Amino acid sequence: MARPPSFLPHIARMTGYLPGEQPRDARTIKLNTNENPYPASPLVMARIRGATGDHLRRYPDAGATGIRRRLSTLFDLPVEQFVIGNGSDELLNVAVRCFAGPGDLVAYATPSYPYYAKLIDLQAARAVTIEFDDAFRLPAELARTGAVMTFVPSPNSPSGTAMSSTALAELAGKISGILVIDEAYVDFATEGALDLVRRHDNVIVMRTLSKSFSLAGMRIGFCVAAPEVIAGLWKVKEHYNINSLSQVAAEAALDDIDWMRTNAARIIATRERLTEALRLLGFRVWDSAANFVLCRVASGIDAGSMYSGLRDRGILVRYFPDNPRLLDCLRISIGTESDTDRLLDEISSLLT
Ligand SMILES: Cc1ncc(COP(=O)(O)O)c(C=O)c1O
Repeated sequence: MARPPSFLPHIARMTGYLPGEQPRDARTIKLNTNENPYPASPLVMARIRGATGDHLRRYPDAGATGIRRRLSTLFDLPVEQFVIGNGSDELLNVAVRCFAGPGDLVAYATPSYPYYAKLIDLQAARAVTIEFDDAFRLPAELARTGAVMTFVPSPNSPSGTAMSSTALAELAGKISGILVIDEAYVDFATEGALDLVRRHDNVIVMRTLSKSFSLAGMRIGFCVAAPEVIAGLWKVKEHYNINSLSQVAAEAALDDIDWMRTNAARIIATRERLTEALRLLGFRVWDSAANFVLCRVASGIDAGSMYSGLRDRGILVRYFPDNPRLLDCLRISIGTESDTDRLLDEISSLLT
């Protein structure tokens, strides 16, 4: 028999990343992976329908020029300050490969996006993790880790909390390594940190069209940073990383930005209603600036039973059985108004 393949030791040690469950039946109310409950702009489907055979036959535009031009106008920054990724996940991956080698320190606060840990493992780099306090404020210790790279998701997942812009500006000024501000959920918040890119060469802001633009399936994220940083990231990304139909979709979505803003406003209104209703039921709910809420379930039922009870009733939320700090918590994505009515009815019935 052939010898089993010998993986590099740091790959063999890895446990890998477990993505959220993706049931394909249309009946499940899916509130577990922070997708948008509303469809993307009708312009997206119209332009995809208008695509020709050439979109499939030919390689895509390696520079995703149409997307970058639109972002440049939207944010009033030169096109040289943008690179487009196959979801912001690809860009997180590219950034880690650019800046963190074996043994290097990479810092972030926990609990947070679990993918950072996998990326650090892939590089055989070393994670420096600092626990968030109960209010999920940006820990001051992040400025003193000496890491080559620091990740700050704002709003953070799973807490939904946004970091203060003063604290982020202070951190950007204090650290010498790269600061990645992961703004996957920023369109549901009141402000973002994009302005820091204008003042700090070590800041990379990452955003995505997965959440607010309802395009998670098309996989489009982008980075905003100083032109020299973007040029370096560009060398590492896959050359044809954004397929032609995704480019068509992203351009159309950016051409109809009001559609995104209207949906984000609806989601924010539903988030506030859900937060208040859960608090009235005795849940602790952290103030969210994202399209989901983190809540500690009311006494009388444990989070695991609430999770399975909801699941049995066709509602999928996120439960964290492996994280001691979140054991009594659930993360619930914001659905439509009627999803939210159903969710609240089922939670109330499970509590009685
Ligand atoms: C904090 C955070 N960053 C990045 C991502 C990745 O988003 P995408 O790859 O869909 O752009 C997610 C997805 O859930 C996230 O929660």
